[in-house]
Amino acid sequence: MGSQRAKLSVEDGNVIGLVDRNVFGSFVEHLGRCVYQGIYEPGHPAADAYGFRKDVMDLVRELGIPMIRYPGGNFVSSYRWEDGVGPLERRPVRLSSAWRSLETNQVGVNEFSSWCRRVGAEPMMALNLGTRGVEAALDLLEYCNHPSGTYLSDLRCRHGYPEPHNIKVWCLGNEMDGDWQVGHKTSTEYGRLAAETARAMKMVDPDLKLVCCGSSHTGVPTFPQWEAETLSHTYDVVDYVSLHQYFDDNVADLGDFLAQSMETDRFIRTVVAVCDYVKAIKRGKKDIMLSFDEWNLWYHTKAQDDDTMKNDPWQGVPKLLEDVYTFQDSLLVGCMLITFLKHADRLKMACMAQLVNVIAPIMTQEGGPCCRQTTFYPFLHVSRYGRGEALRSFTMSPKYDSKRFTDVPYLESVMVKDPDTGDLTLFAVNRSLEDTLVVDLALHGFQSYQLETHLVLEQEDLQAANTPEQPNRVVPAVRKDSVQDLGGGQFQISLNPASWNVIRFSPVYCRI
Ligand code: AHR
Repeated sequence: MGSQRAKLSVEDGNVIGLVDRNVFGSFVEHLGRCVYQGIYEPGHPAADAYGFRKDVMDLVRELGIPMIRYPGGNFVSSYRWEDGVGPLERRPVRLSSAWRSLETNQVGVNEFSSWCRRVGAEPMMALNLGTRGVEAALDLLEYCNHPSGTYLSDLRCRHGYPEPHNIKVWCLGNEMDGDWQVGHKTSTEYGRLAAETARAMKMVDPDLKLVCCGSSHTGVPTFPQWEAETLSHTYDVVDYVSLHQYFDDNVADLGDFLAQSMETDRFIRTVVAVCDYVKAIKRGKKDIMLSFDEWNLWYHTKAQDDDTMKNDPWQGVPKLLEDVYTFQDSLLVGCMLITFLKHADRLKMACMAQLVNVIAPIMTQEGGPCCRQTTFYPFLHVSRYGRGEALRSFTMSPKYDSKRFTDVPYLESVMVKDPDTGDLTLFAVNRSLEDTLVVDLALHGFQSYQLETHLVLEQEDLQAANTPEQPNRVVPAVRKDSVQDLGGGQFQISLNPASWNVIRFSPVYCRI
């Protein structure tokens, strides 16, 4: 084990953008055990009067999640929202074609929206533009948001929800470019349908925020032409375009694995460029913002899931996508989060996919406890300390080449300033597996600052994971003696190999 040097300098006022709170969003899909046995398990000792698990709600609140996308995902593209409202005993059981399982509809828009508010989040509602269209979208909008006095708003009142859900953010379908999607469309077909749905919805409420489907990943042959064509139809009536990205371990080595967030960066830059290209063609004034509304790692259980869906389909609550995340997975999640903050000017919403059990930071046992996965922690740190102004930095880091990436910096980092308190938080990953990174940090134009704390997530065993048997195997710790204050806003920080770091500074106020 050796050591390498890096330099980092930031200047007060050199701001990339204000980090939007909705960048810390999440996603609940009717898939596997995300809803049933995840957030909702009537009969569980921790269930509340509505059947929702209070222990899970506590962890969701701990993550500080402001917005949760629902009800899919692929599920939504054949969903009839009407099945999920009204008396529970009259709700039909349906086939969920996307996940080859059964949907009992015991949770629907009313239960989800009120649960969402109870955990301090707002719902982000996805519409079915696979098998349905403008009329069903308008009906759902009227049912959810109109106060009363119409057929559908009065129906909601009769269903026990007199207050409107007041859902402001709506996704115009899900991954409509993918041939796996029920009701998959060409970019022209989707662009027209999304535009007409958006136009009709904004006639009802011009303040709605609407998200147009971008490409489901960068590997599809239609990327980024899909964005250019669909936005050419929807530019005037939508506010965001979506990005989805999942990483796997189909890589040469760990260096290559951790470098994958460079692909996130490239993806964001390309989509911003396409949005601006369409704006120029339209002679438009507004910028289309980015909603990274599905992101994560997804690979541990893929083979098993394919087998379940093929050979044991149509189960009520199948175990699907129950990835148990390792320590090395949490490092890549950290790199993705840092990348999001570096694009705080245009990336205004993001949803980690998903929230519970299904590629999730929270895992539950049926009838038993729930636990925090390794990936819970970088998300928690960034959600808790990453709100404020993301600062542009000048970085000099040693680099490496991996099989798929060149010039990968060992140091991945971003600094965020809390404008209310003046506190500074540096989020940093050392991608080197062998070497300590000694970082010379210079704070320019700030008054004098002192170190508050250095939190670290690190493990000898990169495959270490948190399980029901060992729920606290990978947890953050406070590092001592890792930051030297050299005076005059200069600090020397030591980052251990393969580590996630949160280094917090606060202003020193002189008493007059
Ligand atoms: O999050 C799992 C699935 O990934 C979602 O249903 C779909 O939108 C994406 O392909």
